[in-house]
Amino acid sequence: MQQLDVILGLQWGDEGKGKIVDYLANDYDIVARFQGGPNAGHTLKFGGNKYVLHTVPSGIFRENLINLIGNGVVLDPVVFQRELRSLEQNNVQFRKRLLISRKAHLILPTHRWLDAASEAHKGKLKIGSTLKGIGPTYMDKTGRNGLRVGDVELPSFRDQYEALKTKHLELLKIYPEVPFDLAGEEAAWFESLDTLRSLLLVDGEYFINEALATGKKVLAEGAQGSMLDIDFGTYPFVTSSNTISAGVCTGLGVAPQRVGRVIGITKSYCTRVGGGPFPTEQDNEIGEKLRQEGQEFGSTTGRPRRCGWIDLPQLRYTILLNGVTELCMTKIDVLNIFSEISAATRYRYSGGEHANLPYDLCHMDVEPVLKSYKGWNSSLDGIKTFDDLPAEARAYLEDLENYLGVPFKMISTGPEREKLIIR
Ligand code: GDP
Ligand code: IMO
Ligand code: MG
Repeated sequence: MQQLDVILGLQWGDEGKGKIVDYLANDYDIVARFQGGPNAGHTLKFGGNKYVLHTVPSGIFRENLINLIGNGVVLDPVVFQRELRSLEQNNVQFRKRLLISRKAHLILPTHRWLDAASEAHKGKLKIGSTLKGIGPTYMDKTGRNGLRVGDVELPSFRDQYEALKTKHLELLKIYPEVPFDLAGEEAAWFESLDTLRSLLLVDGEYFINEALATGKKVLAEGAQGSMLDIDFGTYPFVTSSNTISAGVCTGLGVAPQRVGRVIGITKSYCTRVGGGPFPTEQDNEIGEKLRQEGQEFGSTTGRPRRCGWIDLPQLRYTILLNGVTELCMTKIDVLNIFSEISAATRYRYSGGEHANLPYDLCHMDVEPVLKSYKGWNSSLDGIKTFDDLPAEARAYLEDLENYLGVPFKMISTGPEREKLIIR
């Protein structure tokens, strides 16, 4: 049975999924996004250029490869249209290669408005949402009120839209007022729907299963990270979808036994953007050094990312949840400048040391127990094999592998496509 492979983030997002998907895409026929929406920002660098994708799967730059936006995704047609225009400017031929599931849900202008109002209402306790309308759109999906991509082809579409918008306007009355140009946003939204209608809308679940049945190779591309998962992340400081491998089944319409390799990505350290607990955060010079060296500023919002050391109890947890079969470490080059590197190996809480995460990181005093490693203090440029890495870097990776019980099969040494060690 042909299985599909999955690439996803094991931390709080921005692990470098875009780069790795773009690299591996060459070995696949189809790349499919299965959850999230324009809250994602996936960066690709090659040929001296940098591209940031939000909705479009990261296989789009590889010729002949089909890219599918699955039913689990929430799509803002305005952001999507902007992304497509930028692809056109870069002469990327996507029209025959970009498919959108009819069952993906649409982000309305009022969803973004609700997102902003809800965050304003939370005040200091705000999630730190990207304000792309993600939460309100998934709420309407599970509340059975949503509009789907396939609805744009129905004669009743305008009425459906008006009904949902009216409901949103009523809901907005319970929130603080936030500025929003509804008329302008609405006009742009309807204009962008013409672009959407001109694209290949498909029944994604049939498409993907038929592709697998005929031996096509499929790579599922995760967005966000497992610690932002709606069920298992640092709730309520999470996103609104299942970011873990289970989300592949519901987000594409494939059965669990169809899932093959699960490639989990972690940075050599850890970052998070937005609010919420982050046990290994270094809100100090070390964090600042990681931020500058790693250029840790959001791909979607430009916000500075919070930085800290790699967290092994956290990674063990997300490896378990995802059934990770192999690991990829990105941004190992960022550690080049450190003489000493740390990693959390346990958490101290409730008077003891634990390898497991507590129920609720938000209301608990958790102190990471750090182990230190010797740095290598040298450039990794030009290194193509694991054995050629400095001894200290190999020791660091091997110690992590022992703790995590899964091998590092890929090590990324820079943002560019070719800077990758395959082991
Ligand atoms: P994603 O959301 O998981 O796709 O990650 P982002 O694109 O938001 O953030 C990852 C950032 O790190 C991007 O700016 C990448 O270009 C960059 N990047 C990816 N891999 C590496 C690496 O190995 N080394 C360095 N220095 N940068 C990397
Ligand atoms: P990629 O795919 C990092 C974070 C936001 C916020 C929380 C909820 O690029 O890794 P939302 O907009 O979903 O309501 O925000 O989740 N967040 C991300 N952080 N990378 C992402 O995506 C993220 N998508 C959402 O910062 O804390
Ligand atoms: Mg990102």
